[in-house]
Amino acid sequence: MANDSTANERGRTGAPVRSAIVQLLSHMRDGKEIREYLNRFSQVDQERFAVVKVGGAVIEEQLEPLSAALAFLQTVGLAPIVVHGGGPQLDAALGEAGIETVRKKGLRVTPPEAIPVIRETLTDLNVRLVQAIRDQGGRAASIPSGVFEAELIDEAELGRVGEPSRIRLDLVHAAAKAGQAPILACLGDTSDGTMVNINADAAVRALVHELQPYKVIFLTGTGALLDETGAPISAINLTTDYDALMASDWVSGGMRLKMEEIKRLLDDLPLSSSVSITRPDALTKELFTHAGAGTLVRRGENILE
Ligand code: ARG
Repeated sequence: MANDSTANERGRTGAPVRSAIVQLLSHMRDGKEIREYLNRFSQVDQERFAVVKVGGAVIEEQLEPLSAALAFLQTVGLAPIVVHGGGPQLDAALGEAGIETVRKKGLRVTPPEAIPVIRETLTDLNVRLVQAIRDQGGRAASIPSGVFEAELIDEAELGRVGEPSRIRLDLVHAAAKAGQAPILACLGDTSDGTMVNINADAAVRALVHELQPYKVIFLTGTGALLDETGAPISAINLTTDYDALMASDWVSGGMRLKMEEIKRLLDDLPLSSSVSITRPDALTKELFTHAGAGTLVRRGENILE
């Protein structure tokens, strides 16, 4: 009986990973492309392969394709570091606790009484993602806190919101050594151990600065940056495109912030690094084909290393 249910579970949960493989193969003209990328991604130290940012909404709405894509990368020996947010889940949990959500300068104002709610919500979400990856046959380590040391930005104005000041990689190294994908939430602590809330973009920025990864990947619902007609932009070269994009009136609001954030990340990375914006179910195609699926942003000319 117990054996049966284990077998069933394996059969059922392996399916999304298989479909990720089938989907990938269907986009390839031949095996050369995938082999080329696989070699390239395998050559870098695996802790420097990729930092993947996942928003809370993607975990909510696309948990299965997300965990299948991450488990698939493991089966081919690639070990990205995942940082997740939890915006919608935090709004809901804080609302339930009677704590109003206020944002200032794009940051979540965090009164001390919000901290226990934030800790519990992000830890739950973190464990949910880790469990989903394991259900797909992947190995993942839950690291909700202990990585980001932070300083309070402005306690009077923002409450317990921190800006990362130091990255502690011990837990990340330990997970990587054990062959597990490190799954990080954005709970930080000050040098004297006070827990603080860290904005997910700030956490990604600090981690990217520390690790200097080959790829930074944003997994979003839309899965691309969109042009003025709403069509996905396949590639952006900051050297030639950034000024014109920022000068055009259709690049506004969220898109403008995203462009600024990506430029900030790439300015801090070697020219060979790139940023991809894609969807969980398109991640393998984005990574292993020339054409990709989503938006690829580079700082300079295409450099073949
Ligand atoms: N597979 C390559 C990479 O991940 C190229 C991706 C191209 N993607 C695109 N949206 N144009 O770096």
